[in-house]
Amino acid sequence: MREDVRVQITPLLQPAGIDRLRAALSAANYTRQGVEDRLGHEAQDALSRNDFRPALRILGDEPLDVLIKLYVCGQTCDRDAVERALPVADCVEGGLLEPVPGGLRAGVDLHPYEDWWLIADAPELLRPGQPLRADHVLGVGGASNTLALATVRPKVATALDLGTGCGVQALHLSTHAQHVTGTDLSERALRFAATTAALNGMDWELLYGDMTKPVAGRRFDLVVSNPPFVIGPGEGSHIYRDSGRPADGICAELAGRADELLTEGGHLQFLANWAHVEGEPWQERVASWLAGTHVDGWVIQREVTDPVSYVQLWLRDSGDQFDAQRAAAWLDWFDEQRIEAVGFGMISLRKRSTGGFPRVRIEDLHQEIEQPFGARVLDWFDRQDFLRTTPLLGARFTAAPDLRLYSEAEAGPEGWETVRRTLAQTSGLHWTEAVDEATAALVASSTGDLTLADQLGLLAVAHGLDEEELAAAAVPVVANLVERGFLDYS
Ligand SMILES: C[S@@+](CC[C@H](N)C(=O)[O-])C[C@H]1O[C@@H](n2cnc3c(N)ncnc32)[C@H](O)[C@@H]1O
Repeated sequence: MREDVRVQITPLLQPAGIDRLRAALSAANYTRQGVEDRLGHEAQDALSRNDFRPALRILGDEPLDVLIKLYVCGQTCDRDAVERALPVADCVEGGLLEPVPGGLRAGVDLHPYEDWWLIADAPELLRPGQPLRADHVLGVGGASNTLALATVRPKVATALDLGTGCGVQALHLSTHAQHVTGTDLSERALRFAATTAALNGMDWELLYGDMTKPVAGRRFDLVVSNPPFVIGPGEGSHIYRDSGRPADGICAELAGRADELLTEGGHLQFLANWAHVEGEPWQERVASWLAGTHVDGWVIQREVTDPVSYVQLWLRDSGDQFDAQRAAAWLDWFDEQRIEAVGFGMISLRKRSTGGFPRVRIEDLHQEIEQPFGARVLDWFDRQDFLRTTPLLGARFTAAPDLRLYSEAEAGPEGWETVRRTLAQTSGLHWTEAVDEATAALVASSTGDLTLADQLGLLAVAHGLDEEELAAAAVPVVANLVERGFLDYS
């Protein structure tokens, strides 16, 4: 591991080559819309199933067609046709094209992403039969998208993408951060990120080094990371997924650095895996990562995977031939560590040094959620501030506009008897909550006209209850409904 953070990071192409490449991609209309329009629905649908045939039946030798054939369909193209689409000498020199018998083929993955172009290593699909190299630079995948959608996006002065890879998160950060820094332990990844930045006319600070070392002593308003979080003994083979730390050490380390990395009010968000260890609730394990830090935190677990499926998934991911011995050794290690399953989710932290104990919620969130999740994350932190600073009995609440109440009844001697009431959100996070009759009535009567104390006073009279006892019971229930977004406040 090189400790030198002053490694010079240069794009894969010379500046003039980048300019020529950008001009060629623009002239060919190699944009997301351009590609969609050229291929049409049928060929696009087929591509999403990895079936290139309908696309290849349509495509000819025009520059846009050649770019799609090279970089979307992984075809070898005639050199003359490629010369009309791309600055070939620049691209060959930079490794974006590879001479092969019959012409040229893609040396990397170069595709329009949102309103940008992005350069990463070619996925296995475009280079069938070739396992990924150890320093493979990952392109945009499900995890990158999950993080991009979950990121809070207020305007900020400084943002850090830790483990930037091809630079996908940095691209998004550039839309709302004045200064973007990307770090990586792979020089190759940093050169790809530099190329992505240059091609899109962006200026990022790119630093080489392990975790937070390259930015030691600096603070950021927003830090995002899709770290190499795969859980194993700590001796992995691929830098994009293996951290070299045993178990979930890298995620624990990152969580523990929130304090020193963030400005006051700043956010750190990262995707994580955590071990479910026999006899230890996973929530306690993750909570221990935050012990002693001054951050509010919302941790959501989206998936839980058993060790066999987990090991198979990650061995398949790198395109290696299935290695039964390696799989067995990895699974034996899981057994030794008493790891029964692996949780996957999102950790969102916000630095808050004043105002009492940190508010931390660690929970499962398996239902479908409305995107972008990042807006919900900001809302969650706002709700925590409200709950921390506002005496609830004096506040006015409004039932969220999208609620439904579902009742489940059983036939009994006196006819239908309601045995369960479920309050449900029909949008946003789609939370559901079992409520009693009084809580359902309280939510229905929350129109923002009365304070909670007055609402409870009326309910107490209507049901012959003691007002003080009712208030004591209602406040934690209302706090939960506010946190979950069933009740809004003004
Ligand atoms: C899963 S990829 C994420 C790439 C990209 N940020 C994304 O969202 O798709 C993880 C990245 O972390 C980098 N990485 C691995 N170990 C690291 C370390 N110890 N410190 C910093 N970066 C590291 C890898 O080289 C890789 O680029």
